[in-house]
Amino acid sequence: MQTTRTDSIADPTLDFADIGPDGLAGQFLRRFWQPVYVSRKLRTKRAAPLRILGEDFTIYRGEDGAPHVVAAYCPHRNTRLSVGLVEGDAIRCFYHGWKFDHLGACIDQPAERNSPSSKMDIAAYPTREYIGLIFAYFGPGDPPDFPKFDIYEGDGYVETDESFRRWSFFDQLENSVDEVHFNFVHRRSKFTDVGLNDEIPELSAEETEYGILRIGKRSNRIRHSHILMPNCMYSMIFEHFRGWAEHLAWRVPVDANSHVSFMVDCVHKQGAELDEYKQTVARHAEELSRLEPTDSIIEKCLSGEMHVDDLDWRADLVLLQDAVAMGALRTPRDRALDHLTTSDRQVVMLRRLWRRELTALAAGGPLKAWTIPLSLVPTSGTP
Ligand code: FES
Ligand SMILES: [Fe+2]
Repeated sequence: MQTTRTDSIADPTLDFADIGPDGLAGQFLRRFWQPVYVSRKLRTKRAAPLRILGEDFTIYRGEDGAPHVVAAYCPHRNTRLSVGLVEGDAIRCFYHGWKFDHLGACIDQPAERNSPSSKMDIAAYPTREYIGLIFAYFGPGDPPDFPKFDIYEGDGYVETDESFRRWSFFDQLENSVDEVHFNFVHRRSKFTDVGLNDEIPELSAEETEYGILRIGKRSNRIRHSHILMPNCMYSMIFEHFRGWAEHLAWRVPVDANSHVSFMVDCVHKQGAELDEYKQTVARHAEELSRLEPTDSIIEKCLSGEMHVDDLDWRADLVLLQDAVAMGALRTPRDRALDHLTTSDRQVVMLRRLWRRELTALAAGGPLKAWTIPLSLVPTSGTP
């Protein structure tokens, strides 16, 4: 079998775990709008700590409902601003009352005689809210165009969720583009019911203006899905009780070895059917809350105490299967030890695009200006 061995952990352009503000991967990710929080979790006039991309921030929602992201700490004596008080669109530190507007300007120091100095201003970041998520831009200069998806602006039901995972965002991205693992990791899952497990697909990948078009050909279907550079997957996914739905999933690093998957589905149901669907989702969540927690099962599977195949069906079975596959990857993750084959074409392309962009970034640019067509649709492509 043909193999390629081109990667080295010594090459900084392949250190995809270096996601902090000084790391190449971190600087690259910061040049795109990134989802950072689920909208419904942030109440009006409330603040919360936010850890994302290896850094700490404060997120809050002003009295007019607009969300804001600013620095984690007050510059006075470095108290967390997330325990502060939201006043209008500003936040006041809980400790001695310094107040910062949503652009980070220090506008009040109650115990001082002089007006606040701009030296006490804090960092603030452009913030947008869309399809149930709060996005922020942490990069230099003006943010790029905000990504929009017209299917999500139609009459479908938009469902937003998040999942914290104890493995790296890049391992998850590679797993997302790897359809061969359906036949093994998920051989006992919902994929069986929609013909995604019967045969190993023939895979191809093309670079596009937005990232990668992935094509998986099986005799019963051709499946198209997309990687939106740098860290978003756009595909159709299936649930027994729902059918196919558009699925956006941003894999955003929290730290080098953990990430949050921010997921937004567009469900094409209305009226009584939609009510029934929501009831099913709520029932599954209630059932899951009574079962052994996901993290405990993952730990047992990785320690050899049990096998994920021992589990009966549960709503998070596919996630558990992926978690075991991801948790079992050798650490530290050295991609130089991988032997990529022809069926890894999509993984090879993902690494190649990232490597090319990180190399350009290290050399001072220019980077490719990725654009997402508004009408981009993933398809399950059943012929
Ligand atoms: S620590 Fe914030 S005002 Fe003193
Ligand atoms: Fe998977």
